[in-house]
Amino acid sequence: MSSPNKPTEQQQQLTSPTNNFQFTTKTFALLIALLALTLAFTNPIRQSLTSLLPTAARPLRTMSTSSLKITKQPWSARGHSDHDWLYTFHTFSFAGWQSTFRESFGPLRVINEDRVKPTTGFGAHSHAEFLIFSYIVNGTLEHRDSMGNLEYLKRGEVQFTSAGTGIRHSEYNRDKNDEVHFLQIWAKPDIRGLKPHYETKKFTDEQKADKLVRVMESTSRLGEKTETSPIGLQADLSMDASILSPGKKVVHEVVAEGPRKVLVQLVMNGRKQPKEGGAKIKVGDVVLGEGDAAFVEGVKGPGQVEVENVGEGKAEFLLFDLGMNDA
Ligand SMILES: *[C@@H]1O[C@H](CO)[C@@H](O)[C@H](O)[C@H]1NC(C)=O
Repeated sequence: MSSPNKPTEQQQQLTSPTNNFQFTTKTFALLIALLALTLAFTNPIRQSLTSLLPTAARPLRTMSTSSLKITKQPWSARGHSDHDWLYTFHTFSFAGWQSTFRESFGPLRVINEDRVKPTTGFGAHSHAEFLIFSYIVNGTLEHRDSMGNLEYLKRGEVQFTSAGTGIRHSEYNRDKNDEVHFLQIWAKPDIRGLKPHYETKKFTDEQKADKLVRVMESTSRLGEKTETSPIGLQADLSMDASILSPGKKVVHEVVAEGPRKVLVQLVMNGRKQPKEGGAKIKVGDVVLGEGDAAFVEGVKGPGQVEVENVGEGKAEFLLFDLGMNDA
């Protein structure tokens, strides 16, 4: 494509004066009008002219699926450990597991899908300079930290810790019978040395039913705090949650202008992706099963990303809209 400032040959022809003929002003205007009409209906020329316009004057382009590059990470291509007390999958490199796929995606650095057996858990350990949030899928997670917080988190609740200069916390399953299933997510903050912060909020199944609910939002995009507003975090990251019924579709509006990345992670129902049936969603032309993720590149705001349930059961998934700088 030609740069907006460099005129093409065609444009030069249009603007260079012609000395051979003398036009009356009227004839000239008529010819220009005819030429404009011809150009308007000649597609290739129209496109080349559009590219000459400065960006702001161009018509807004809606993203077509073909402009998106969608890479599927199958559930079983994630890092995986079964420590008996902990059954876990890692979307990105974690603990001893080194991903050959992606180290991070925008500010997102960790998505772990964890199942912790009754009466076990993660003992007290330290964190610093990370934004850490747990999305509870099933069971009860005890959270205890060095800021004096003690909570029992259940399905629908999201626990957010901005570790900042440093915290210690433990995550435990105190139940005698039921395991706890949750997604733990880490993102890199824009700013170092933040004061440690703790916040919990509930987003119900009803709120998520066939809708996208904003659960996490960059403080730079967060409006006034209300009962239903998302949890603010200091990173260029928005996270939505949805529970989509078969045949239903949701449309995500890209949260910021310019190039973005989107990641969609489908939550698992069981310990393995079922061979037949199970939850299935479609992102662009890519179908995800339980535990699969879609890494979407070539996203540009303003624009939209659609997710459709193409399976037989309800599909619970998280959708991240991310800035371009990798953690
Ligand atoms: C939630 O946990 C209970 C108790 O462990 C279990 O019976 C149930 O199947 C789980 N539900 C889902 C959707 O995983």
